[in-house]
Amino acid sequence: MKNFISLADLPDFEETLALAKSLKKDPFAFEQHAKRKTLGLLFFNPSLRTRLSTQKAAQNLGFNTMIMNFSNEAWALEFEDGTEMRGIRSEHVREAAAVVSQYCDMVAIRAFASLTDKEQDEAEIVLNSFAQYASIPVINMESATGHPLQALADAVTLSEYPTPHKPKVVLTWAPHPKALPHAVGNSFAQMMQAQDADFVITNPEGYDLDPRITKNIPVLHNQEEALKNADFVYAKNWCSYENYGSIVRTDNAWMLTTEKMELTNNAKFMHCLPVRRNIVVADGVLDHPNSLVIEQANNRTFAAQAVLKTLLDHV
Ligand code: CP
Repeated sequence: MKNFISLADLPDFEETLALAKSLKKDPFAFEQHAKRKTLGLLFFNPSLRTRLSTQKAAQNLGFNTMIMNFSNEAWALEFEDGTEMRGIRSEHVREAAAVVSQYCDMVAIRAFASLTDKEQDEAEIVLNSFAQYASIPVINMESATGHPLQALADAVTLSEYPTPHKPKVVLTWAPHPKALPHAVGNSFAQMMQAQDADFVITNPEGYDLDPRITKNIPVLHNQEEALKNADFVYAKNWCSYENYGSIVRTDNAWMLTTEKMELTNNAKFMHCLPVRRNIVVADGVLDHPNSLVIEQANNRTFAAQAVLKTLLDHV
């Protein structure tokens, strides 16, 4: 495993999941593993959970960490080859990635989708350029199309609440005033395809995720129908994929409410956070004992730790 760009890069998903769970029980089991190694964390976008949990995960393994907000602290990067760099972009990614590789043993990068150019977003220019020009492993801390560290943490959370039957897991679109990326929905859908679960996605017409990712997962355009007998309900907004980057619905009909949760099998509620209260989900759902959102955030540390350890062991 040279890089961790998507869940598919893991040599064995179940093994990494088991490692994350064992690290949760004993976070310092490998506290010398990365002694004298440095993890660089580069953020092109804001973060709370990913930044703190990945830094904590690294420290639990003995890494030193260096963090940089590329959006406002670094030189603006050029990604195209052969350009005359007369504009605001002062440094080419070829040099930047090579230079970061001199100071760090691994680099983790967050670079969201622009949501203006589907082709460019799907090319994952930032992450793939670093993967191409860095000489160290590259870790995805949410890219244009995926958030695999979140999905691995979500798999840990799901596994902590076993059901006596095959669980029904529903990923439901929910409203949001801003156009948000598809990364969390994509990676959750990819992760769920490897689970022994009855997995359903529900979203309004015009909000279907990339069919190359959802494949044969059932997609229902009737939220209440989808929620019936669910054991887990994962809410998330994303903008239109088909009409790329646009907001098709502005009403609150798809907000997750306590009344809708009554349709479920006393379902646990999940969201990756941050979440806009009473827009995406009603207070009563978020504050209910069935809400797992804080445990999901807690599990981010152990998911990241498992990925870092797996990379250390396989490079
Ligand atoms: N869930 C998640 O990635 O949170 P942050 O954007 O705060 O890192």
